[in-house]
Amino acid sequence: MVTAQTPTNIAVIKYWGKRDETLILPVNDSISLTLDPSHLCTTTTVAVSSAFHQDRMWLNAKEISLSGGRFQSCLREIRARACDVEDENKGIKITKEDWAKLHLHIASYNNFPTAAGLASSAAGFACLAYALGKLMNVKEDESQLSAIARQGSGSACRSLFGGFVKWIMGKEDNGSDSLAVQLADEKHWDDLVIVIAVKETSSTSGMCESVETSLLLQHRAKEIVPKRILQMEEAIKNRDFASFSQLTCADSNQFHAVCLDTSPPIFYMNDTSHRIISIAEKWNRSEEAPQVAYTFDAGPNAVLIARNRKAATSLIQRLLYYFPPNSDDLSSYIIGDKSIAKD
Ligand code: PMV
Repeated sequence: MVTAQTPTNIAVIKYWGKRDETLILPVNDSISLTLDPSHLCTTTTVAVSSAFHQDRMWLNAKEISLSGGRFQSCLREIRARACDVEDENKGIKITKEDWAKLHLHIASYNNFPTAAGLASSAAGFACLAYALGKLMNVKEDESQLSAIARQGSGSACRSLFGGFVKWIMGKEDNGSDSLAVQLADEKHWDDLVIVIAVKETSSTSGMCESVETSLLLQHRAKEIVPKRILQMEEAIKNRDFASFSQLTCADSNQFHAVCLDTSPPIFYMNDTSHRIISIAEKWNRSEEAPQVAYTFDAGPNAVLIARNRKAATSLIQRLLYYFPPNSDDLSSYIIGDKSIAKD
């Protein structure tokens, strides 16, 4: 039995659009930061026993089906790389060949709302690939495991690392070079503080429709993102918050513009999201240098990245003034202290 814990990640240069739906190969590179595991993480226990008669999985204590292609891809890819496991003290001996016949039980728990637009699938599939890899003594490194997690949920590949992470889109048709690499570890820029303003709603996906119908998406993938990735890498390397903030906000806004450019249009943000953007923009413009970056994924929750603790305190005061928790606008706040720590 193996238990692993994996935090979720938030993209600052977004992945949106797949060139291969089955293998989950993106149309552009993306960059994310991995969150503090104490607030948004998945804990997964995987167990093997000759007494198990089929693969089964429980998510937040409720049994779910493993028949979906994404789960099956991850299980198949990990089983194909399984190695012998031997522990004389515990009397365990499982050969490479045994793994193909043995069944697994998987229990997964999210310490945050599942399917609320908070990237639960990113933490979930990264944790699954990692835990299974450990159980089956898979020798692949984190980057290679990320290419397996990617087949569960694209953004999951970036959760195999802490700190700042880049998902390289790759060129190969079989996806072997579409994997995550760490750009900077969790200690590199530890002034940053993340505040997530949560409105619990179920997230929906519209990525296929965007690829098929949005001309802006084609332009973004070819002309905009490649330059932005280089600029973002530079901003992270130099801990240049002004550039980091400008790029993060611009990329979030363009991702939502692509959603609007999709037929039928997709609206992930709501009035509260728009008001948070206005507050952040106004505040940044009233100061000598930007104090906060904002980004929104496929849901209305705002992820706000403050440049340091002083800015975070000021940000939280502003948010509490405009949006008290448990009001109609917002359910709660999640504040990441060690914002980009890996566990
Ligand atoms: O990995 P998925 O299929 O949940 O897609 C996530 C896409 C965004 O969160 C909107 C952007 C990103 O890069 O994480």
